Amino acid sequence: MRRRLAAGNWKMHGLSADLDEARALARDTATARCERLICPPATLLAPMAAALAGSGVLLGGQDCHHTASGAHTGDVSAAMLADAGASHVIVGHSERRSDHGETDDQVATKAAAAHAAGLVAIICLGETEAERDRGQTLAVVSGQLAGSLPDSASAVNTVIAYEPVWAIGTGRTPTEAQIAEVHAALRGALQRLLGGEGAGIRLLYGGSVKPGNAAAIFALPEVDGALVGGASLKAADFAAIVSALDSSG
Ligand code: 13P
Repeated sequence: MRRRLAAGNWKMHGLSADLDEARALARDTATARCERLICPPATLLAPMAAALAGSGVLLGGQDCHHTASGAHTGDVSAAMLADAGASHVIVGHSERRSDHGETDDQVATKAAAAHAAGLVAIICLGETEAERDRGQTLAVVSGQLAGSLPDSASAVNTVIAYEPVWAIGTGRTPTEAQIAEVHAALRGALQRLLGGEGAGIRLLYGGSVKPGNAAAIFALPEVDGALVGGASLKAADFAAIVSALDSSG
């Protein structure tokens, strides 16, 4: 059984005062059955770990360097994230791929570094609108998956997030049939690449998930949860998404 996961990606949002939102989320979802994860900016990891101690809400980073330490000004290693209280790290988010030119190869080395530090890697992939319009969605996401998965990937240490680039922060989402089609293709590809382990890897959908559309998305086959951006910043919205996930599983 794949445990369902509601993951919030705060992106470059969040100051100390926003720890109250995390506390409210923990309080309002205290009886949740699904896993709850917040990925705040790196500056908030340690204080959020303290604020959420004992709550069961997990913490993740938003990126890590592919080496454990060294002369890399401004970068953060997976071991540093773990030391600050993280159990997870997002790698290969489309904003990293576009803002920083990250390639599938680099994403795979980051995921491997996360695994070496004992973190769960949430590997993100998704097509652009132009790629979808050209009918290339399944080829693009399958290629990203094969290129971004390190040899160390297992059902325990890896989560895949399908985030169509054109759905991120836009209020637009694929149709339910489109989400189901991509998730089925990703499940098939995971099983071809990893055998039995591929059946156990969780597949999240991300891109404009809100309280109003979460239940319909979570009802789809092969959707094991969500990676939520904007709606994860407000405890009430994220709690409603957590509740929809619990109700669907
Ligand atoms: P939004 O939920 O704001 O569309 O962001 C999705 C996302 O990029 C999560 O990683």
